Amino acid sequence: MIRIMFVCLGNICRSPMAEFLFKDYVDKLGESDNFLVRSSATSPEEYGSGLHYGTRAILDRLGISYKGKRAELLNKSDYEKYDYFIGMDERNLINMRRILGGDEQDKIRLLMDFAGEHRDVADPWWTGDFESTYNDISKGIKYLYKYLKEQK
Ligand code: 4NP
Repeated sequence: MIRIMFVCLGNICRSPMAEFLFKDYVDKLGESDNFLVRSSATSPEEYGSGLHYGTRAILDRLGISYKGKRAELLNKSDYEKYDYFIGMDERNLINMRRILGGDEQDKIRLLMDFAGEHRDVADPWWTGDFESTYNDISKGIKYLYKYLKEQK
């Protein structure tokens, strides 16, 4: 079982999109039993909120369920509970290290690094452009999956 925590600032746009796209991806490969996947925020700003409309619209279009998802906060105690903490942008990584108390076991990663692109996922917060976010995340999670299979 590989345990993955996707992380962004508010846990209403990018990281839940990554969570549900990754779950759907491994589900279709018949591999969902091999993964535990969650997402959380570095900021309490949106704690308890449902997904942003833009992320919901993408998931609805794809027929992917996100039932019951509410924004959660990343906790220090999560560090031992997950194998990978995957941030959407560089600022997330800084906050993740602060919340988790460092990264002794090298668990913190940037999503697009798996795709060989050292850059942030497009942030839809100011642009409203959820399609670019979707394109980045769907690419990132496919390479993440490939990476994890090669680790085995
Ligand atoms: P997310 O998007 O981090 O992708 O969920 C944001 C959510 C909330 C805020 C910014 C980005 N905010 O400033 O409250």
